Amino acid sequence: MSDSKTKLSCVTVALHWVVGVTMIIMLSVGVYMTNFEEHSLYPLHKSVGMIIFVVILMRVIWRVKQGWPEAASTYKSWEHTLSKIVHWVLIIATVVMPISGMLMSALGGYGLAVFGLEFLAATPNPDEAGKMIPINGPAAGIAHETHEIASTLLIAVVLLHVSGALKHHLVDKDGTLKRMLGRRIDS
Ligand code: HEM
Ligand code: HEM
Repeated sequence: MSDSKTKLSCVTVALHWVVGVTMIIMLSVGVYMTNFEEHSLYPLHKSVGMIIFVVILMRVIWRVKQGWPEAASTYKSWEHTLSKIVHWVLIIATVVMPISGMLMSALGGYGLAVFGLEFLAATPNPDEAGKMIPINGPAAGIAHETHEIASTLLIAVVLLHVSGALKHHLVDKDGTLKRMLGRRIDS
């Protein structure tokens, strides 16, 4: 059950698509709920983010154990370097996003809960309805900034990544995308 040049393991493929699709949905919901002040979506965003964090950690452990998959085809050296950088940024960003989100909520006094199951209670301010007493306001602010900056970077890198995958499939017509869809390809 390990990755090879001609076939990726079902674990690699499943983890890639579960994390990848969820991250794209989380980015879209995050941008939507903040821009349109749709506060009712916050608990859903946080709950899904904390659940997918568990899968993300499993994926990182799997990657560390397996190493990166060998390239499916022979690329130019700049393509090779770019794809390595992009993969590192993507995998690091998948860890930074949920951690900064959880720190922002917890340190800001908003607590942590997954679909109503509370891990850390919120600390509402009795003198100001709807406001919280932060555990550490400045640190929550840094986590908030990190969440925002990392999400902007991630959106740009995901666009680059998806364009690269489509270029391989449609222009180079190699097996890069097919292999990530679980198919066996020619070496
Ligand atoms: C798992 C991956 C996650 C992704 C991809 C993600 C993405 C985003 C994005 C794109 C935004 C909008 C940023 C902005 O422009 O202000 C956002 C906002 C937010 N996220 Fe996440 N997020 C994730 C996980 C989490 C988690 C686990 C939590 C908390 C437990 C969280 C809490 C929040 C909160 C509270 C906001 C709103 C901040 C504000 O009101 O300005 N996020 N998220
Ligand atoms: C529709 C969206 C996506 C498509 C079509 C896609 C396609 C691919 C393909 C074809 C590969 C194999 C590249 C190679 O063999 O060199 C790959 C690898 C990878 N993708 Fe994506 N991807 C998508 C979304 C994402 C997202 C949103 C993330 C993370 C936020 C992500 C993270 C990665 C990583 C880290 C790898 C390296 C291999 C691995 O760790 O499994 N992808 N992707």
